[in-house]
This record gives sequence, C-alpha cells and structure tokens, in this order.
Amino acid sequence: MEGLNGKVVIITGGSKGLGNAAVKKFANSGSTVVIWDIDETSGNNLANQLQAEGKSVIFQKVNTCDEENVIQSVEIIISKYSKIDVLINNAGITRDATLQKMDKNQWQQVIDINLTGVFLCTKYVSPHMIKQNSGRIINTSSIVGIQGNFGQTNYAASKAGVIAMTKTWAKELGRKGICVNAVAPGFILTDMVRAMPPEVLQKMSDKVPLGKLGEAEDVADTYLFLASDNAKYINGATISIDGGLNI
Ligand SMILES: NC(=O)c1ccc[n+]([C@@H]2O[C@H](COP(=O)([O-])OP(=O)(O)OC[C@H]3O[C@@H](n4cnc5c(N)ncnc54)[C@H](O)[C@@H]3O)[C@@H](O)[C@H]2O)c1
Repeated sequence: MEGLNGKVVIITGGSKGLGNAAVKKFANSGSTVVIWDIDETSGNNLANQLQAEGKSVIFQKVNTCDEENVIQSVEIIISKYSKIDVLINNAGITRDATLQKMDKNQWQQVIDINLTGVFLCTKYVSPHMIKQNSGRIINTSSIVGIQGNFGQTNYAASKAGVIAMTKTWAKELGRKGICVNAVAPGFILTDMVRAMPPEVLQKMSDKVPLGKLGEAEDVADTYLFLASDNAKYINGATISIDGGLNI
C-alpha cells in the first residue's frame, strides 16, 4: 500500500481486537500510530512491544466520548507531531437486549461511545486536516447498521448513524482534501467470537457465502487501503467486509 510511511494515524479502540490488528499493520507500514483507548494496560503493552521492534507507536488514555479528554489529546499530538493524517474511529461496544428488555442505560452507553465518540473525535481532529488540506477519516460501522439485528436496537441505530455521518462528512469535507469512508464488518473472529461454542461458530460460518468467518487482519487491511494513496478517489463509501453475508 502506498503513502503510509511517515503518516500520523490515530486509531481509537486500538488496544484490543480489530484496532490492535490495525495498530500493528500501520506501524509495520512506517506510520506513526497513536492508540486512543480506555484500556491502559493492553494499550501500553502493545505500544511497548512495537516500540521494542523499532516502530513509532504511542498510547494515550482517551475516553472518546469525553469532550475535554479528546480536545486535550488532539493538542498533545499536534504539539508532538504537528499534524494528523488519518483518524480511524474504531472504538465501539455492544450492550445487547431485546427491545422490551433494553433499559435506557444500555441504550445510552452504546449511543455515547459508538456515535457521540465518533462525532467528537472527528469534530476535533478534522480542523487540523482542513488546515493541511488533506486527511483520511475511516469509521467503523457494522453489517448490523445495514441489516438491523435481533437484540441490538442500540447497536444497530449507532452503526446506521455512523454510515449517515460518514456520508455527511464526505460531502462537508471532500473539498477540503479529506476523504471519509466507513467499513461494515460482518462476523469477525475476535477473541470474544473465538470463545463461542464450536457449533455456534459453525452455524455462523454456514451463513456466509465464503463459508468462513473473517479475521481481524481483513478489517485492518481495509483500514490500511482506505488510508493509502491507492484509495484517493474513494469518498463516502461503506465497504462491506463480510464474505458476502449482506447479499
Ligand atoms: N468484531 C466483530 O465481529 C465486529 C463486527 C462488526 C463491527 N465491529 C466493530 O469494530 C470495532 C472494533 O470491535 P472489536 O471487535 O475489535 O471490539 P473489542 O471490544 O475487541 O475492542 C474495542 C476496543 O475499544 C475500546 N473502547 C471501548 N470504549 C472506548 C471509549 N469510550 N474510548 C476509547 N476506547 C474505547 C476498548 O477498550 C477496546 O480496546 C467496533 O466499533 C465494533 O462495533 C466489530
């Protein structure tokens, strides 16, 4: 992938799961990676491990839905590196329950992190990209944001909202040299999914036209592509990474 060397890349939720795989891919491509996560132990371990390999990676403890925290963390990055080239809004949570059982707290937690967090990070990072007249913003939606899902009113609403924000920002920021895109992963084999009983995993795989679940690296590779020079004319798109599950 071209053009990633020397780029300053923020990856939210980079301590674990898909974000962790993305941190490694960008670091190995020569980018300077800033991990924003509330999981300090995993984030610092990952940063230390990659630094020991000579990679440029730092960890900042950031709660993406805390406005002051986001503002201050952006300022620290700008004072250290003078620019931000790529923002990957990957942090997200689930708090599943069927409609009648879902309480307002479960609703609000998911909306706060999956929607407000993405809004705040983009709001405070994008002015620096506008000044540079260049930048890439990559948002993490889900197949659930396209199709809905049983027991996921809050999550489906948040992930559909992410697609709508992506299209809005693609229109608002396109003329400022910034491309904004989203990814919509399907069933991806993260630690949480791996821990499921084999028969459940088999049932999930059977639903996928490719006949298998995705890997964290499949999502990380798409982040890498969307951040690279190779994707310079892609704006406002939502790329499915689901083995054909949504067709
Ligand atoms: N894993 C899948 O199959 C799948 C499928 C579709 C979409 N997604 C989306 O991909 C993204 C990553 O999912 P994952 O499976 O890697 O999840 P994960 O739970 O493994 O990792 C999420 C990371 O986000 C961090 N985080 C949570 N709240 C935060 C906050 N307020 N501020 C900063 N960091 C915070 C967590 O500490 C964690 O490190 C999420 O947006 C998720 O909705 C995942």
